[in-house]
Amino acid sequence: MNLEINPLHPVFAAEVIGVDLRDPATPELVAAIDAAMDQYAVLVLRDQQIDDDQQLAFAQAMGPLEPDVAVVDAARHRLKYRAMVDISNLALDGSIVAVDDRRRMFNLGNLLWHSDSSFKSTPAKHSMLHARVIPPSGGNTEFADMRAAWDALPIDTQTLIEPLVCDHSLIYSRALLGFEAFTAAERDEFAPVPQRLVRRHPGSGRRCIYLSSHIGQVHGYQRPEGMVLIRELMEHATQREFVYSHPWRLHDLVIWDNRCTMHRARPFDDRRYKRDMRRLTLQDSAPTLDQAA
Ligand code: OGA
Ligand code: MN
Repeated sequence: MNLEINPLHPVFAAEVIGVDLRDPATPELVAAIDAAMDQYAVLVLRDQQIDDDQQLAFAQAMGPLEPDVAVVDAARHRLKYRAMVDISNLALDGSIVAVDDRRRMFNLGNLLWHSDSSFKSTPAKHSMLHARVIPPSGGNTEFADMRAAWDALPIDTQTLIEPLVCDHSLIYSRALLGFEAFTAAERDEFAPVPQRLVRRHPGSGRRCIYLSSHIGQVHGYQRPEGMVLIRELMEHATQREFVYSHPWRLHDLVIWDNRCTMHRARPFDDRRYKRDMRRLTLQDSAPTLDQAA
C-alpha cells in the first residue's frame, strides 16, 4: 500500500492518492486512513468509482454506522440503504424536486455551519460523502477546523466556555431559516439533547469547540444571552484562516471528523442542475457528556 497525502490547507485537510475503494479495505488501509483522519480531520479521496454497496462496505470497515437518517418525511427514501443519507435535490423518480418540496426546505439547513448529528445524544464521528452527480458550478462544501479555532481563543474565553453544556436540535437550526413545519412526531423525535461545548479530540489529544447551528440553548444562561455567545464563537470559528472550501470533482469521497470540524454546503442553481451526493456516517462512542472532558 502506497498512500500519497497532500495537504490542502495550512491547518487541516488533505488529499489522499493511491486508494481504490472498489477493493475491500484491508486493516492496513483502515489504520492509515484513521491515522490521517486524526491528523487532518478532512480527507479527500479522489476518483472513487464506487456504488452504494462498495461505499457501504468501506464505511462498515471503518467503524459502526449510524443506523438511520434523521430527516423530515423519512418514509420517502430514494436510496437502497436506510443508513445512507440522500444529500441530493432529487425526487424518488430521479427528477429535480419541486421548489416548494418540504424536504428541499429542510435540506437548505445544510447551508448553515453544523456538525452532523450533534442533535443526537450519541452524535456522529466521521461522515463520508461521495459525489455521484455534481452541478457545473457552485455547490462547494466548506469545512472549519474547531481545534485551530480553540487554540486561537483568548484564554479568558477558553476558561469561560470550557465547562458549558448546550442543547442541540434540528428544530433550532431549521428555525434559523424560518422552517417550522415539523409534525408532532418529528418534534418528539428531534427533541433537544445536551452536548459539551468543549471537547477533547481523542485521536490528536487537542481541544476543540463543539459548535453547530443545531444549538438553541446554553445551560445556565438566559436564552438570548447564551445565543449571543454562540454567535460570537461561530464568527470566530469560521474565519477564513480556519476554513477549507472543497470544490467537488466527480467521484470524490470526502471524509470529515464531526467531533472537531464544522461544515456547510454552499449554494448552486438547484432548480436547474442535479447534485447527487450520498453520505454514510460513523457513530461516536458515547454522548459527549459521558466522554472525558
Ligand atoms: C452533509 C452535508 C454539505 C453539502 O452531507 O452532511 O452537510 O455540501 N453536506 O452537501
Ligand atoms: Mn452535514
